[in-house]
Amino acid sequence: MAFTIKVNGTPRSVDVDGDTPLLWVLRDVLGMTGTKFGCGASLCGACTVQIDGVATRSCVTPIDSIGCSQVTTIEAIGRTDAGAKIQRAWLEHEVVQCGYCQSGQIMSAPALLASNPRPSDADIDEAMSGNICRCGTYVRIREAIKLAAQSSAKGG
Ligand code: FES
Ligand code: FES
Repeated sequence: MAFTIKVNGTPRSVDVDGDTPLLWVLRDVLGMTGTKFGCGASLCGACTVQIDGVATRSCVTPIDSIGCSQVTTIEAIGRTDAGAKIQRAWLEHEVVQCGYCQSGQIMSAPALLASNPRPSDADIDEAMSGNICRCGTYVRIREAIKLAAQSSAKGG
């Protein structure tokens, strides 16, 4: 069945079954491999994208549920103000270790700041708890999110 979804501001037409998860469409049909497959069962957060600005697990989001919503992936999050601040803060704190979980982490963090511009450590831990990092980069993730929040408060 044909579907047209808006990915990173561009309409993309795909021909797949309606229950095909968005993650499969992004990676296997559209060739956008920045979004990662981890568990395929909404448990790890590696596949996180944003749908209308909300952090969403693409592995359990069927293509026929997306409709006119805007899908944003790791390939384009740096074009948003919040996404660019998060990516700069990630570099500043050298957050990444193996990197596998990191696109999901980076997609969740701006969504957190959009709803809570000055999160406490506890707020960050709670909001990011669904994004599992086997390398244990949680302390650096927390510091990077706080740095991005500060730079937003200063207008930087
Ligand atoms: S791959 Fe989607 S939550 Fe793990
Ligand atoms: S950086 Fe390796 S799993 Fe998170």
